[in-house]
Parts: sequence; structure tokens; C-alpha cells
Amino acid sequence: MSSHEATSQCPFNKNNPYLATMTQRIRLSSPQGEKETYHFVVDLGGSGLTYKAGDSLGIYATNAQADVDEVIAALRATGDEQVTLPKAEAPVTLRQALTSELTLSGPTKKYLEFVAERATDPSEKEKAVALLAVDKAEECTSFLYNRAYIDLLLEFPSANPTPQEFTGFLRKLMPRLYSIASSPEKHPNEIHLCVAIVRYTTNGRKRNGVCSSFLSDRVAVGEPKIPVFVASSHFRLPEDKSKDVIMIGPGTGIAPFRAFLQERSATKATGRNWLFFGDQRRSCDFLYCDEWEQYMREGSLTRLDLAFSRDQDYKIYVQDRLRENAAEIWQWLQGGAYLYVCGDAKRMAKDVDAVLLKTAMEQGGLDEEAAQQYFKDMKKDKRYLRDVY
Ligand SMILES: Cc1cc2nc3c(=O)[nH]c(=O)nc-3n(C[C@H](O)[C@H](O)[C@H](O)COP(=O)(O)OP(=O)(O)OC[C@H]3O[C@@H](n4cnc5c(N)ncnc54)[C@H](O)[C@@H]3O)c2cc1C
Ligand SMILES: NC(=O)c1ccc[n+]([C@@H]2O[C@H](COP(=O)([O-])OP(=O)(O)OC[C@H]3O[C@@H](n4cnc5c(N)ncnc54)[C@H](OP(=O)(O)O)[C@@H]3O)[C@@H](O)[C@H]2O)c1
Repeated sequence: MSSHEATSQCPFNKNNPYLATMTQRIRLSSPQGEKETYHFVVDLGGSGLTYKAGDSLGIYATNAQADVDEVIAALRATGDEQVTLPKAEAPVTLRQALTSELTLSGPTKKYLEFVAERATDPSEKEKAVALLAVDKAEECTSFLYNRAYIDLLLEFPSANPTPQEFTGFLRKLMPRLYSIASSPEKHPNEIHLCVAIVRYTTNGRKRNGVCSSFLSDRVAVGEPKIPVFVASSHFRLPEDKSKDVIMIGPGTGIAPFRAFLQERSATKATGRNWLFFGDQRRSCDFLYCDEWEQYMREGSLTRLDLAFSRDQDYKIYVQDRLRENAAEIWQWLQGGAYLYVCGDAKRMAKDVDAVLLKTAMEQGGLDEEAAQQYFKDMKKDKRYLRDVY
């Protein structure tokens, strides 16, 4: 039975999430480092939810109350006002809409246009109109990128939208997905996650990612407060347990590979396992290092290659380790190994792809077109899978 079929027999799904309890919250990265990466354990209780190694967990987070309070105050509202959201059957209070239905970040040009039309203060109006000028497109994009709605409410108070007008501009708050970092073979009734907490400063304000900070700052361990669903994935181990696997997962990209290794160990898979992991610093960000060392000792992890980018005065990334091991990687691939990449989509996955292409050209003697076709075929055969975000 696929996990999709299994979850469809239980009452909980994306439209009807299960209120799960966090039972463990462990900081994996050291406070001396620059990153804040956590291990969370979510208990599935008697939900009937099941999952497979490679699946993701969907989470409906809520906005921080302090952020909601600030927006309500800037709107000069109480929070009890009724607002009607698109496609909603009944009105909800402004507080409810701002807490769990709408996203407070990513203000749009449309809102700036509203400000330009409605601001009664001449200097505010002038500023909004100037940003909307045709030749200011780049400046306008950057202005909006560095702000959330609260910044615009405070910078243009005289626009004074009603709660209904204001909520009409806000996008729907969407659930976030997290690669599951455990195998049901080892943890049938719980789901482990490896999450990097998003924190940054723009326009002089400290900001937190909605869902990652919900998990780290706002959910108490032991309380059934996390609305979750299991999202079935294409990211799967080979059914043939004698096949080798190569896993490339820097940063939180390590999550599904922890699940894969638990699964391969629990099911006594005979194929070899090769893991490439990287992060900023060995002393601060070597996520789950004890587990990898244990797997190496047991022999369930055949090879572990590490790339700590900030331990020297030049960058070392996972693709540098791939390059150094090109001949052996090519041998594994030619022997039928499965290849997996997980983590950052914008830079890492692209750069890894380029190095793999070069490996096929240099080690396999393929020209560029043939090398591209080689990986296309691997993808078609589901032997090259990516879970990137
Ligand atoms: C299939 C899948 C699996 C995933 N697995 C994992 C996982 O295992 N672990 C994990 O940690 N994440 C994972 N993610 C990412 C995760 O879903 C969230 O996107 C991530 O946690 C951020 O969500 P958030 O709500 O905390 O932040 P959000 O509130 O969504 O904020 C993030 C946004 O903040 C803005 N931002 C961030 N930094 C800056 C900056 N410096 N300057 C200006 N703006 C900035 C950007 O607009 C960014 O899009 C996965 C995503 C997918 C699609
Ligand atoms: N907005 C941003 O600028 C930004 C930056 C980082 C992460 N993120 C996001 O933050 C979340 C969590 O990040 P994460 O913990 O998963 O990992 P991550 O912060 O992306 O980084 C993990 C490791 O990958 C390295 N890396 C950076 N660029 C790379 C490249 N082109 N190729 C290979 N490796 C590269 C990093 O090195 P260095 O950091 O030392 O270069 C680090 O050692 C992800 O959603 C990611 O997309 C956003």
C-alpha cells in the first residue's frame, strides 16, 4: 500500500489536518555558530497517519501574536471587527484572519497603489507615487522586498485602510512542507524534522520565518498544537535493496537521508550507502554527527564525505567533494547506483547538477549532449531524484 493510500484511509489530510504534539525539541547547531537548526519530534498519537521515508510533513503555522497585535494597533482596530475573506463561508474576526488565515509579509505593489490613492498626508502620497513611477521599478521591488505590511502601515499611516480593505490585500497563509527525517521502520508513530530557523533583519526590523519560528518559539513541548498532514513524495529509496545509493544533502537537505539511512539499516538493505553532507562549520553545524559515526562503525554507511564551507578562508562545498571523487562516483553510477539531492534549490542543486554533468563527460567520455541524456534517462528511470526548495 502506498503512503498516499494509507493516509487516505485515515481522516486526516491537507484539508483536515491532525493536531499533533511536539514531544522533543533539540537544538542541533551550536549557539556559537551563525545558524539555528533544530531537531523536532512530532507524535502522531492515535491519528492513523502513516508515512514513508522520503515523504514530507505539511504544517499549518500561525503568525506570532506580537506581530498580529502590532498590525491591529496600526490599523487602529480592536481585532474584534468582522472581515470576510475570499471563498470563506462566514466572516471571521480581524484577529483570527491575521493570526491563522493571512500572511503578513510580502506587501504588494497593489497595496502601494492603494496608498498612493488614499494617503491624505501629502508627503506620504508623494513618496508612494514616486516609488510607483515607471522608471523606479527596481527601487520599488527592493522597497517592497525589504518590508512587511506592518512597515507600510507605519510608513503610510494616513492611508488608513479599514480592516476589510486591508485584509483584501493579504495573501493566504500557506502550509509549509518539511522533509521527514525519520523512517517509519524505526519510528512508526512519530515524525522527526530537521529545521533551519529563518531569522533576518530588513528595514531595521528583526523578522522570523512564520513556520520555522512557530516550531522553535511558539509551540510548547507536550501541547497538541501543530496542525499537520503527510505529503506523499516521489523521493523514494530503490525497491531493490541491493542497489547502491548516493545521497547529497547539505544543511537541512540532510533530513530525508537520515530517514533513508534508518530505513536501509532497519530493512538490512545490502546496497552500499554514500553520504555527502556540508554546512558552515564542523564545530557548530555537523548535524547528527554521532549517528553518522555509528552507521560508519556498523557498516550501514559505506562512505561519508564532508564539506564545511567556513572552516577555512575559501569555500568548500559538497560539489567540491563530488569533483574529488568523480572517478568513484562514475563507477557507482555505472553500477546502477541511485542518486539523490536534497536542500537549497537556488544555488546548491544547480551547482551539484553541473558537477555531475562534468563527471559524466570527463569520466565517461560523453559529450555534453550525451551526458545530459545520461541524467535525463536516470531521471526517467527514477534513479536521479531531487527534493529541493
Ligand atoms: C518539499 C520541501 C521540503 C522542505 N524541507 C525542509 C526541511 O527539511 N527543513 C527546513 O528547514 N526547510 C525545509 N523546507 C523549507 C520550508 O518549507 C520553509 O520554506 C522554511 O522553513 C521557511 O519557512 P518559514 O515559514 O519559517 O519562513 P517564511 O515566513 O516563509 O519566510 C521565508 C521568506 O523570508 C524571506 N527572507 C528570508 N531570509 C531573508 C533575508 N535575509 N532577507 C530578506 N528576506 C528574507 C524570503 O522571502 C523567504 O522566502 C522544505 C520545503 C519544501 C518545499
Ligand atoms: N536567503 C538566503 O540568502 C539563504 C541563504 C542560505 C540558506 N537559505 C535558505 O535557508 C534554509 C536553510 O538552509 P540550510 O540549513 O538548509 O542550508 P544552507 O544555509 O543553504 O547551507 C548549507 C551549506 O551549503 C553551503 N552552500 C552555499 N551555497 C552553496 C552552493 N552553491 N553549493 C553548495 N553548497 C552551498 C553553505 O555554505 P555558505 O553558507 O558558507 O556559503 C552551507 O555550508 C533553506 O531554505 C535555504 O534555501 C537562504
